Amino acid sequence: MDKIIIEGGNRLVGEVEISGAKNSALALLSAGLLTDDWNTFHNIPKLKDIDTIKTLLLHIGAEIEEDGNTLKIRTRNPENLEAPYEMVKTMRASALVLGPLLARFKMARVSLPGGCAIGARPINLHLMALEKMGADIKIEKGYVITKAERLKGARIYFDISTVTGTENIMMAAALADGVTVLENAACEPEVSELANVLNKMGACIKGSGTDCITIEGVERLKPVIHTVMPDRIEAGTFMVASGMTKGDILIENCPIQHLEALATKLRETGMEIEIENNGVRATGHSLIKSVDVKTLPYPGFPTDMQAQMMAMMCIANGLSVMTETVFENRFMHVSELRRMGANIRIEGRNAIIEGRPFISGAPVMATDLRASASLVLAGLAAEGITEVSRVYHLDRGYERIEEKLAKLGANIKRVKE
Ligand code: EPU
Repeated sequence: MDKIIIEGGNRLVGEVEISGAKNSALALLSAGLLTDDWNTFHNIPKLKDIDTIKTLLLHIGAEIEEDGNTLKIRTRNPENLEAPYEMVKTMRASALVLGPLLARFKMARVSLPGGCAIGARPINLHLMALEKMGADIKIEKGYVITKAERLKGARIYFDISTVTGTENIMMAAALADGVTVLENAACEPEVSELANVLNKMGACIKGSGTDCITIEGVERLKPVIHTVMPDRIEAGTFMVASGMTKGDILIENCPIQHLEALATKLRETGMEIEIENNGVRATGHSLIKSVDVKTLPYPGFPTDMQAQMMAMMCIANGLSVMTETVFENRFMHVSELRRMGANIRIEGRNAIIEGRPFISGAPVMATDLRASASLVLAGLAAEGITEVSRVYHLDRGYERIEEKLAKLGANIKRVKE
């Protein structure tokens, strides 16, 4: 297992290029199951989670060709209409194959995900929606087995806004008979990108980016060529890295239009976030003002940036309150940040952080992707050496993060444990 070792204190300066969006790519590759000829996706990031979805798609029987960051996928004669436990437990987004398999091949067997480091994260809303669309659903031996000759359009209300739930049902509804209306649908940019790609494939989807999406089913979809948008969470993580190191980073191909909530908060801390010709410049200063943050579904402050923002508040001037409303257990980084000298108290869904002039390096480990990112950020700003173990979490969602940070001047290296 690899470890990342950081000697903190360096100011990060320079340019960084953002990779393709992980959560978009996962949904788009799953949508590749919906057509019978080659779909081409450019700008697919090189990540562990992408390897996992590739393994799953190959298991199903898709053909995959890869050239650099371009991935082609074609599904003609699937062998296994299923997502096995080994893959779903590695990555919950594996459940994204449920909608496409059921809609195109009339059946899907998908392992139910168990609990997860950040919350219970069930898929009951995905199943409720498919049942409303006429699917027959059984749970057997830890698997959900769904069957439908042809799904039927339905009016569906999600009582919690769910990103992969909205994506799954949008893909299923694209090939259903009749009109499906999704109310309280997720508005995340990844959902909109999937809707746009499905429309390029010949689907008829309106309203993506709002909380009411209408999908008129079609008989079949055609293959697509598409370039995945840049990853807003990776871009946001580099913005915070700049803020925490008094840095000056030009973030190339930064999807700033999807980062309004974060940029607003970072400006309140005293950072400058300016749009330039080649990207977005994020500049930090010695004084970091404390801010309160509440995570919400898009366009609210993203839960996927909560841990990183908390790392920043650990060295801010004053008290800040971070409220996590999306996941019930997403404060696992707190005890590790405390080991670095941070002063954080948890009260229910609130973390109260009393900023300190400095934190100090320590051996730490994380339990999920964004928590790992927050520890790397803390390490960049800390006095002394930080060793982050369980780097495989980081590799799930950040492409070559240590290389990108080193290029900006960080003293960071990856070593075998
Ligand atoms: N929920 C239910 N029932 C469901 C579905 C969701 O109760 O059937 C609950 C969840 O437990 C959670 C809330 O609804 O409390 C929102 O969960 P959502 O379904 O939106 O999350 P997700 O689709 O599983 C995606 C991203 C996550 C990101 C969340 C929220 C992908 C592959 N994953 O997860 O990304 O945090 O949306 O924005 O798109 C990450 O990249 O680090 C990551 C965790």
